[in-house]
Amino acid sequence: MALGKRRKVRIFVLFCIATLTTVLVSYNLREPSVYFFKFAFRLSDNLFARGPCACGQCMTEMDDDPWFTERFNQSIHPLMSRENSALSDETFKWWQWLQSERQPANFSGVVEELFQVIPDEVLYMDASPERCRTCAVVGNSGNLKGSQYGRLIDSSDFIIRMNQAPTSGFEDDVGTRTTHHIMYPESAKDLDNGTSLVLIPFKTLDLQWIISALTTGAIKHTYVPVMSRIKANKDKVVIYSPTFFKYVYESWLDGHGRYPSTGFLSLLLAIHICDKVSVFGFGADHYGNWHHYWEENSLAGAFRHTGVHDGDYEYNVTLLLADKHKIQMFKGR
Ligand SMILES: *[C@@H]1O[C@H](CO)[C@@H](O)[C@H](O)[C@H]1NC(C)=O
Ligand SMILES: *[C@@H]1O[C@H](CO)[C@@H](O)[C@H](O)[C@H]1NC(C)=O
Ligand SMILES: *[C@@H]1O[C@H](CO)[C@@H](O)[C@H](O)[C@H]1NC(C)=O
Ligand SMILES: *[C@@H]1O[C@H](CO)[C@@H](O)[C@H](O)[C@H]1NC(C)=O
Repeated sequence: MALGKRRKVRIFVLFCIATLTTVLVSYNLREPSVYFFKFAFRLSDNLFARGPCACGQCMTEMDDDPWFTERFNQSIHPLMSRENSALSDETFKWWQWLQSERQPANFSGVVEELFQVIPDEVLYMDASPERCRTCAVVGNSGNLKGSQYGRLIDSSDFIIRMNQAPTSGFEDDVGTRTTHHIMYPESAKDLDNGTSLVLIPFKTLDLQWIISALTTGAIKHTYVPVMSRIKANKDKVVIYSPTFFKYVYESWLDGHGRYPSTGFLSLLLAIHICDKVSVFGFGADHYGNWHHYWEENSLAGAFRHTGVHDGDYEYNVTLLLADKHKIQMFKGR
C-alpha cells in the first residue's frame, strides 16, 4: 500500500519534470535570447539570496554575530531596477532632502526613461551555484602610497573603486583592474568599456544626468559644472538604490552624519554582493592624514571634518566589521 503510494508520487514528480522540461524547451525555441536572459536573471537573483558559498568563511555565516545580524538585511536590493524603483513616501522624502531641488522632475517618468537607456536586468557574473566571489573595495586614502597592494587587489573577482580614483601611474599600489566604478555626477570620470559604472543618485537630476551624459549631453550643470558626456559602457551602467542608501544610513550608521560617504556606501554594496570582502585605502595614513593617494598635498581632500560624513563613526563600524571577520582590512604598510 505504502509502496504503491510512493510510486505514485514518483510518477507524479517525473510527470512534473517532463512537463516543465517541455515548457522550457518550447519557450526556448520561441524566444531563446529573451528566455535565456530571464533565466540568467533569476539565477543572479538567487545569487543575491546567497546560495552555497564556497569560501572558507562566508559573509552569510552570520548566525554567529548578533551585531551583524541586527544590521544586515539581505532583502533590500542594492541596485535599482524598474521593479524596485518605486520609493516609499518616507524614503523619497529622505532622499530628496539630501540635495534638495527646487523643481524636481517627475521621478517615475525619469526612471521610465532611464531604463530605456540602461539595462533593467543586471547580471553580476555567470551564475555558478557554488562559488566564492571575492571583492576588493579600494578607497582613495593616502595609506595606499607605497603599499605594493596592486597584485593582491588585482587578484579579486570584483574590484570596486570610487570617484576620481586613478590607476594609471599607481599600479603597484592600487592595481590595474576595475570591474565597478562608483560615482555621482559631480565626481564622474570616463571609464573603460569593461567597467561597470555604478551611479549613486542624490537627486532626480542625477538620474536625468546619466541619461543625458550617455545620450544627448544636454545637462552640463547640477550645483556645479559636471561632465556633459561620459565615456562608459551603457550596457554596464547600474544605479545605487535610494532605498538601499537609506538602509545603509539608518541600519549601519544609526543616522550619524548627514549621509554616508561614497566609501562607506561602496563597502556596504560589497558586503551585499560578495562572499569575501577585502578593504584597501580606507582611513587615514600612518601620519593621521586623510588625503587621496594621488595627491601630493597630504592636507588636501580632508572630508572627515566637513560635517557631511561622520568619518570617525564610519571608520569605527568598518573596524568592527573587520573585528568580526566580515571584511579584511589592509591598512597600508
Ligand atoms: C528587511 O527589509 C525588509 C524590506 O524593507 C523589511 O520588510 C524587513 O522587516 C527587514 N528585516 C529586518 C530584519 O529588519
Ligand atoms: C509622472 O510620470 C508617470 C510615468 O510616466 C505618469 O504616469 C504620471 O502621471 C506623472 N506624474 C505627474 C505628476 O506628472
Ligand atoms: C563595449 O562592450 C560592448 C559589450 O558590452 C560591445 O558591444 C562594444 O562593442 C564594446 N565597445 C568597444 C569600443 O570596445
Ligand atoms: C569609536 O570607537 C571608540 C572605541 O571603541 C570609541 O571610544 C569612540 O567614541 C568611537 N567613536 C565614534 C565616533 O563613535
